[in-house]
Amino acid sequence: MSQPTASSTTARPFQGAIGVFDSGVGGLSVLRAIRAALPHEHLVYVADSGHAPYGDQSEAHITQRTLTVGNWLAEQGVKGITIACNTATVVAAKALREQTHLPVVAIEPAIKPAVALTRSGVVGVLATRQTVQSVAVARLMALYGAEKRILLQGCPGLVELVERADLHSAETEALLRQFITPLLEQGADILVLGCTHYPFLRDTIQRLAGQSVTLLDPAEAVARELARRLADSSGLTPHTEQGSVQFFTSGDVAQVQTVMSHLWDAPLTVRALP
Ligand code: DGL
Repeated sequence: MSQPTASSTTARPFQGAIGVFDSGVGGLSVLRAIRAALPHEHLVYVADSGHAPYGDQSEAHITQRTLTVGNWLAEQGVKGITIACNTATVVAAKALREQTHLPVVAIEPAIKPAVALTRSGVVGVLATRQTVQSVAVARLMALYGAEKRILLQGCPGLVELVERADLHSAETEALLRQFITPLLEQGADILVLGCTHYPFLRDTIQRLAGQSVTLLDPAEAVARELARRLADSSGLTPHTEQGSVQFFTSGDVAQVQTVMSHLWDAPLTVRALP
């Protein structure tokens, strides 16, 4: 396959690529794990920043955005879709899977591995409000958490800070302290990063929590699962090819490009989602 471009005149310009999306820039934490695990693949990333944060919006809105972005990716010819957004997964992954024949791999809060790892028997989960209220997380807790204490902490405001690349300010630290302190006081020795924006706050979270607390981010597990699913279905791109990444957003292109270049640690070009 030649490197796909958005300006291609073919009807399906990203034929054979992998679509990855999030409500905004946070899914880059999953994209970098996919890029590392699958360096030969062509990736198309959509930051739905014009509609972020998902976590404070209705289930109907999150489902509608997930289906809209998922459909757009399918129309571009992608061979698989990764939902790099816990909120979209817990609210709308089922609806997307019902709508497409493509393999859909979706990140969800790492409650199962956290339960296996905790020594104190107390796990803290940092996530958006919609994620902590979701039926899907209640199901994960019932499945894996019966003999442990799982503390769900909604974190309104954090996504907005990461969307501005405001990672190290006093405001960010104060908000993180407010969310993390009650979990530590109740004995949590594992903190699940249950929103893909939060790995960009990892250094501050680790400093506030202390080195004895383990932070869990399932991005690498998602990349491995994606590789497995593609190997079983549409196939992986030959190792002779050099992979690529194309970026799109529904938000302010110039602002999203600046923030994503900062988080990706390299200059990148973002285009408007048509
Ligand atoms: N990155 C999304 C997640 O993993 C954030 C959702 C939001 O926009 O609130 O949940």
